[in-house]
Amino acid sequence: MNWRKNILITGGAGFIGSHLVRLMVNKYPSYRIICLDKLTYAGNLKNLTDVENAPNYAFVKADIVDANAVETVFNEYQITDVIHLAAESHVDRSIEGPMEFVMTNVVGTVNLLQKAKDFWKGDHHVFHHVSTDEVYGSLGNEGLFTEETAYDPRSPYSASKASSDHFVNAFYHTYGLPIKISNCSNNYGSHHFPEKLIPLMINNIVHKKPLPVYGKGENVRDWLWVNDHASAIDTIFHKGRIGESYNVGGLNEWTNIDLVRHLCRLLDNKLNRRAGESEELITFVTDRAGHDLRYAIDATKIEKELGWKPSITFEEGLEKTVDWYLENTAWVDEITSGSYRNYYEKMYQNR
Ligand code: NAD
Ligand code: DAU
Repeated sequence: MNWRKNILITGGAGFIGSHLVRLMVNKYPSYRIICLDKLTYAGNLKNLTDVENAPNYAFVKADIVDANAVETVFNEYQITDVIHLAAESHVDRSIEGPMEFVMTNVVGTVNLLQKAKDFWKGDHHVFHHVSTDEVYGSLGNEGLFTEETAYDPRSPYSASKASSDHFVNAFYHTYGLPIKISNCSNNYGSHHFPEKLIPLMINNIVHKKPLPVYGKGENVRDWLWVNDHASAIDTIFHKGRIGESYNVGGLNEWTNIDLVRHLCRLLDNKLNRRAGESEELITFVTDRAGHDLRYAIDATKIEKELGWKPSITFEEGLEKTVDWYLENTAWVDEITSGSYRNYYEKMYQNR
């Protein structure tokens, strides 16, 4: 088959990556989608079972830090484009051990950039780097992050992502590599690893375990449904301008404590529990070191220039998410029975 494009999606077995792979495989049968993933604790081939037999899908287990492995994939699949999501993604883990974040998020990204620069000749290629709003630092009570906001990363995770963004831009300015960057706010949805706030709280509410809210729960995040992030990446990849960054967000700010209370109510209802029962599980614990107060995105550029906007409300998205977790207990149980237990004990016992 003569594929129109051979698109390498790194980190495709993770949370956001698996939603993007599914979207691209189903929407573009003339593209071949090559999913490259190291399958760390966060990568899971069960996230991709519904596309694993598609004729335009291939999976490669590899580490983006391994330059030889990256080279082999480019040669074997004649890669025309990259959508790069592979990363260490959890802020709390970056506080415990920053070096893994430097290796994957910085060194791994530069490896991919080098290969794309050497491999691609002529136009019609895209290197789309998927990044985060955390590169902008922390907001006070007012204001929004725009594409012009100065970078001010404050956690080892955000410092590594900011560094990777800088390298991506450097390859554009120095070598003319055709790059695009997207900086997105907090995602939620199905297949979300239960170390992150929303799936962790759903899982703990279901099992009547304490709900660990950091500090006073006053920190604010802007939540976007993961499928809407995938559709934003698709839009930017196809229609965004080369050399540009696009902010992606839901205009949907919640304090953590309000969000956790909302989840408690939703689940009390779905599990036929007494009103207020799950809220009794809320436990305020020691705050995250250097905890950013507030993230909020101004998504005017992608909305006006590319015509993208979120497709559903937070209430709808959250209900779909909760339903998915209640219906997919095998997925959750498998993840939470292994090394997750050690992680959970280390992070939350005596906190
Ligand atoms: P995730 O942790 O769920 O998945 C990361 C994936 O990358 C996993 O499948 C993992 O196996 C793979 N991976 C890790 N190290 C690798 C390596 N060295 N080589 C190859 N594969 C490797 O992360 P996510 O939440 O899906 O985030 C995906 C991307 O989107 C990341 O770059 C993240 O910074 C960015 N992002 C995430 C959010 C969010 O809310 N989750 C928001 C904005 C941006
Ligand atoms: O903003 C985009 C970023 O969102 C992404 O780049 C990251 O990859 C992603 O992990 C996410 O980072 P956060 O640190 O905002 O997400 P997390 O789910 O870890 O935490 C959300 C908020 O909830 C944060 O203020 C910390 C708080 N929290 C988190 C956990 C896990 C708690 O209060 N208790 C918890 O147990």
